[in-house]
Amino acid sequence: MIELKMVHINEYELSDCQRSQIQSLLKDSFPGYFEDRIFFKQMSRERILAYSDGLLIGHLGLEYRAIKIGDQLASIFGIIDLCVKEEYRRQGVATELLRTVEGKAVANDINFCLLFADEHKLYQNSGYTLLKNDCTWFGIEECKSIGLIKERLTDCMMAKRISGEIPWDETHTVDLLGHLF
Ligand SMILES: CC(C)(COP(=O)(O)OP(=O)(O)OC[C@H]1O[C@@H](n2cnc3c(N)ncnc32)[C@H](O)[C@@H]1OP(=O)(O)O)[C@@H](O)C(=O)NCCC(=O)NCCS
Repeated sequence: MIELKMVHINEYELSDCQRSQIQSLLKDSFPGYFEDRIFFKQMSRERILAYSDGLLIGHLGLEYRAIKIGDQLASIFGIIDLCVKEEYRRQGVATELLRTVEGKAVANDINFCLLFADEHKLYQNSGYTLLKNDCTWFGIEECKSIGLIKERLTDCMMAKRISGEIPWDETHTVDLLGHLF
């Protein structure tokens, strides 16, 4: 296993150097999506940066939010733009980044870790469940607000319970109280 140094940093505190390292990692990992900025829809609250020998090799954006599950409010950590430098993949770096978020969530009594992904294996291996719910969120497309969206999500929303007993099953409507990250 690669020796990793995890750096937790507020989005607004990122240095120019960190921004340019993140941008180059995002550009390589998600071709065509991060040409001129380091976020796609909206800035994160925080970034978790994984360094090996001083080199940025992995990254995720962390969202902290209240969402509504049925009629209950839940606190979540949202995981955004998880990526690992190509030469360092399949060595557990992404899994370690997820573990780092979960440790932080446990320490802070967060109810769920939540993410949206088309491929599920990495997350299922870390204990995330694919959820199917009627959802409401605020649409943002190409840096424009496009209004409220209501749709049933069946193949991308994944969550892991961290603390509490807030019920979450297919019958609940989920209001993201913000954009879909
Ligand atoms: C997905 C990604 C972050 C995984 O990083 P990693 O450090 O290689 O992950 P780990 O070593 O902890 O786990 C590897 C396992 O993740 C799974 N996996 C691979 N690519 C995946 C993907 N795009 N989405 C979900 N799971 C994936 C596989 O099961 C893989 O194991 P296997 O190849 O032996 O079957 C990395 O491949 C990457 O940066 N891809 C490009 C960006 C991306 O698609 N990010 C996901 C956004 S939701």
